[in-house]
Order: sequence, then structure tokens, then C-alpha cells
Amino acid sequence: KLAHPVPQDYSGLRVVVSAGPTREYLDPVRFISNPSSGKMGFAVAEAARDRGAAVTLVTGPVNLPDPAGMVVERIETALELRDAVLKAAADADVIVMTAAVADYRAAEAKTEKEAKTAGEVSVHLVPNPDILAELGRSKGRRVLVGFAMETHAGIERAAAKAARKNADFILLNYPTREGTAFGGDDNQVTLVRPDGSHDAWPRLSKREVGERLLSAALPLVSSDE
Ligand code: CTP
Ligand code: CA
Repeated sequence: KLAHPVPQDYSGLRVVVSAGPTREYLDPVRFISNPSSGKMGFAVAEAARDRGAAVTLVTGPVNLPDPAGMVVERIETALELRDAVLKAAADADVIVMTAAVADYRAAEAKTEKEAKTAGEVSVHLVPNPDILAELGRSKGRRVLVGFAMETHAGIERAAAKAARKNADFILLNYPTREGTAFGGDDNQVTLVRPDGSHDAWPRLSKREVGERLLSAALPLVSSDE
């Protein structure tokens, strides 16, 4: 039992959250992926649920159980993520893309495992669709939030990304901070808008980052039905 009643400020709103990595298979037993833990996306989804939203969580493979009280869809590839998110996003109010979508997939995934050879091999990769940009192209009244991890020129790059993808804001973080980002329980992010204006938040639990994200997104939801 919670000690304080949680304000139900997301009651009546639909929130879609993507989380975790994608896997892009080279053959049935090998894939390209990344170390995303899914914790950030799960925290956003749980915060939205507790504030009264109807939540769909679309997640890549992560070591986290299905949270109660929401629709959870487990996917592996970026193409599967795209299908699930676009379907859920059709009638959503707020869409939060925390998923670490692999930028490329194999042009042709082999259907059988290949034995190694002595020589070098190369893999032909093709770009995956940009799901956030696709949502942005038919944005309508939906609020779109992205995440970006940058190693340098973070504000400029995140603002350019938000503008290019027609996102309302992007939460920027850096891979180098201990205990934050990949796998950690905390995150230190800067909210970056398409015009380059930004607000740095202190280091917070991922849950608290999720709460602040939802509070920043809520005034952008248009009240007219
Ligand atoms: N994203 C997406 N579809 C992709 C790639 C990224 O929806 N194929 C989303 C991510 O979920 C994230 C945001 O876009 O919310 C920014 O991701 P990022 O990888 O930083 O953007 P990219 O455009 O892929 O840029 P980069 O070349 O820096 O990887
Ligand atoms: Ca990328």
C-alpha cells in the first residue's frame, strides 16, 4: 500500500512506452544488439500506470517481469517493434520511445547456422525504419518523447534529432556516468527541445525521471477530444 494517494493526472489518457534493445538476427543463433536493460522504459510505464493512464509497454528482450496493470508486448526485432508500436500508437496520447532500436539489420538473415570459415567475412546491413520519425510524420495531437545517448555535442545533436523526428522533447544522457544509463538504477538526463532550449535534471532514480517526464509531457497533451 502506498503511503500517499498518487495523483491520477493521467486518468483517461493512453500512453505507449517502448523499452529495451532490439535483436537483429544474422542467422538463427546470432544477432546484433545492445546492452539496454529496459529499466528506464519499465519505470516510465509503471509511473504512467500509477497516475491512471492506460499503458501499453512494448519491450525487447530484457530480464524484467511483466509489470501488472498494463498491456505488455514482447518483441525482438526493430521491424516487430515498429509494428507493435504503430498499432498501439494509433489512439495514444503520449508515446515514449525509450527503446534502444538497432540502427541496422542484416539485409538477409540466414535461415540456417553457417559454419565458420578460415577467412574474413562481411555482413551486409540495411537501415531499420526510424519509428519515432515515422510517428512524427503523422504526429497529429500526440505527444512524442524520445531518448538519446550521445558521447559529444549532446545538446545540439539531441535538439537536431528532436526537430528531425518532430518529437516534443528528447531526454539526453551520456554513457560515461557511473550508475546511470545502461543497466543502472539511476539516470541523469537533460530535457532537450527541438529549438535547443533545455533543462538539466539532477541524477535521479529512473522512476523519478519517468515521473518528471510524464509531468513535462502532460501540459502538451491537448485537452480537446
Ligand atoms: N529511434 C526509433 N527508431 C530507430 C532509431 C531510433 O524510434 N530506428 C528512437 C529511439 O527510440 C530514441 C530516439 O529515436 O527515442 C533517438 O534514438 P537515437 O539512436 O539517438 O537516434 P538515431 O536517429 O538513430 O541517431 P544516431 O545516428 O545517433 O543513432
Ligand atoms: Ca540510433
